[in-house]
Amino acid sequence: MIAEPPESQAGGSPRPLRIIALANQKGGVGKTTTAINLGTALAAIGEHVLIVDLDPQGNASTGLGIDRRQRRLSTYDVLSGEAALADAVQVTAVPRLSLIPSTMDLLGLEMAMASAADRAQRLRRALEPLDRGEAQEAQPSTEDRRFTYVLIDCPPSLNLLTLNALAAAHAVLVPLQCEFFALEGLSQLLRTVEQVKGALNPRLAIQGVVLTMFDPRNNLSAQVVADVREFMGDKVYETMIPRNVRVSEAPSHGKPVLLYDLKCAGSQAYLRLASEIIQREGRLPAAA
Ligand SMILES: Nc1ncnc2c1ncn2[C@@H]1O[C@H](COP(=O)(O)OP(=O)(O)OP(=O)(O)O)[C@@H](O)[C@H]1O
Ligand SMILES: [Mg+2]
Repeated sequence: MIAEPPESQAGGSPRPLRIIALANQKGGVGKTTTAINLGTALAAIGEHVLIVDLDPQGNASTGLGIDRRQRRLSTYDVLSGEAALADAVQVTAVPRLSLIPSTMDLLGLEMAMASAADRAQRLRRALEPLDRGEAQEAQPSTEDRRFTYVLIDCPPSLNLLTLNALAAAHAVLVPLQCEFFALEGLSQLLRTVEQVKGALNPRLAIQGVVLTMFDPRNNLSAQVVADVREFMGDKVYETMIPRNVRVSEAPSHGKPVLLYDLKCAGSQAYLRLASEIIQREGRLPAAA
């Protein structure tokens, strides 16, 4: 039997799905900010992006303007098998950017699944229809609406939720804050990635390390950058995200910073990061 060729976009180039987990067990390093704004930047340059909010805090959902009453179906429902992934996908105010929101229910997931043998593989299973191009954006549109990127926003812990993300992902993107203890946590995260690779997900790779909240006036910041670049080599993106007050203001308006203030240094940095990621993957830019 002859296998069907992969379906391609209108432009003729196939656009494979890339699943990226944003993980760092250290809290407050910019995981959620990067999920929201990298997702928005990728969507702005033509990618079809799904953000999966895997943190009970629900900051990615709030930051995208989806308040608690709007979270009818959540990542909890998907992971517990009560809802199909496609039914839990919600549109956002950003064209081509969708979200599966989270609720506090996620806090109980570990308990609820304690005896389930496949408890670390729930997200991977749930995302399988996307790999087959079945689940699409909910937005009415005439263009090809299959997702090309899934960004998973992990909680600040190496718990069952993060394990689900690492088991489902092609690669891990590590946001690292430019501060003194940055490297300590990184070694532990890299060990966990190796363990997951061996036990659950052989394809798992390091997508890259993005330095966040960089302050050029701070000597310590510059030293941390040098140390991380020495330790991780070219896995560290050229693009650094500067500390920028507009980035921190945007979530309280329920908006990505790119919608809140496109011209600010933070927005421009996230646009550069999106281009750098696409370039490094050797993808052709999507025809927006
Ligand atoms: N580039 C930046 N400039 C200024 N503030 C920033 C920047 N990036 C993130 N912040 C702020 O730092 C705080 C932590 O960021 P964020 O919530 O993205 O981190 P996190 O790693 O997702 O945290 P958690 O571990 O709690 O999930 C937030 O208040 C956010 O607005
Ligand atoms: Mg977060």
